[in-house]
Amino acid sequence: MFARAMHSPHHPILAQIIPTRRCNLDCAYCNEYDNTSAPVPTEVMLARIDDLGRLGTTIITVSGGEPTLHPDLDRLILRIRRCGAIATLITNGLLLTPERIGALNRAGLDYLQISIDNATPDEVSKKSLQALDQKLKWLAEHAEFDVTINSVLGCGVRNPEDAYQIAVRARELGFQSTVGILHDHNGQLAPLEPAHRAVQERILALGSGLFSFAHYDRFQQAIVEGRPNSWHCRAGGRFLYICEDGLVHFCSQQRGAPAIPLEDYTIEHLKRYAAQGKPCAPLCTISCVHQTAMLDAFREAPRETLAGILDRRRQRNPDFRVPALVSMLDWMFLDPARRSLFSKFALRLLGASRD
Ligand SMILES: C[S@@+](CC[C@H](N)C(=O)[O-])C[C@H]1O[C@@H](n2cnc3c(N)ncnc32)[C@H](O)[C@@H]1O
Ligand code: SF4
Ligand code: SF4
Repeated sequence: MFARAMHSPHHPILAQIIPTRRCNLDCAYCNEYDNTSAPVPTEVMLARIDDLGRLGTTIITVSGGEPTLHPDLDRLILRIRRCGAIATLITNGLLLTPERIGALNRAGLDYLQISIDNATPDEVSKKSLQALDQKLKWLAEHAEFDVTINSVLGCGVRNPEDAYQIAVRARELGFQSTVGILHDHNGQLAPLEPAHRAVQERILALGSGLFSFAHYDRFQQAIVEGRPNSWHCRAGGRFLYICEDGLVHFCSQQRGAPAIPLEDYTIEHLKRYAAQGKPCAPLCTISCVHQTAMLDAFREAPRETLAGILDRRRQRNPDFRVPALVSMLDWMFLDPARRSLFSKFALRLLGASRD
């Protein structure tokens, strides 16, 4: 994924597709579901996945509504893999069973994000550890794909500190954990209370991988502190949101723009909408679009971006030492004299070259 993102500046890095708008829950902070919609017909979904393959999409995420309500989810995952894309799924996990997990393994799922907001259910969210811990154990036992638990910080659950307990539980089971920051219904930052910031600090202190976007990216730090980010959102180009009607939107919170049918979407659209300025960018909390922007930052200014990541890590932990592997990659790829030679070789090795 990283290699392909580095190689081409125009193809979508990440696309989210919605196989059903219906959900079996009703989280108080969510505007992405209804209780009535039928699943999108499987053949229609397969054609949309092929269209994303045609555009060269690197990662296709199946979201919703609740995607496990789609009767042919496994066929969708299989098709994503056949298109050569990385297949990921975002779910509330309620319908996971050992059989379901086995079917996702066989379909070739690469990565699953399960959303858990609290220790016990409350009026805001029923996605609780109490309801989902057995599902987590089944995932730990059976899943052949990577698992991350995501909690939404600031979403109004009774005990915001539960996010820490969830992050600890994730590590016990060998999973990653991420913290999403609540957005309002335009994708904009909803003010965070000091208690939420304290919880995020405690979760950060648990540690994470050097390149964990979730914990160390500069976007999230500014957002948690209530500061605007200065960045260029490339939604519509590097990130696509395909609604249940098959229209391309910038993201889940900017539905209606540009709202072009996916089958008509071309490389010219990708370039035009990636370049377009978005007034909602400074206070945007849509982390998956931030992550695609970080990859582009790495592509355009690798040395500076790596230096920023290492600086932030040192600020958090004065004893931090740069791992030998990172120093070696820096030597191979970030020095202009060696970069071209090693990049060509690495892209061929990783199968990412489109030459
Ligand atoms: C819309 S849900 C769809 C997939 C599935 N139903 C689930 O809950 O994981 C995708 C993710 O968006 C998060 N989400 C929903 N509303 C949000 C909001 N207002 N702010 C931040 N994250 C939100 C959910 O918690 C979930 O992790
Ligand atoms: S489970 Fe997911 S889609 Fe359903 S209401 Fe909650 S956040 Fe929204
Ligand atoms: S800045 Fe981009 S990702 Fe964020 S809300 Fe606006 S269009 Fe969506």
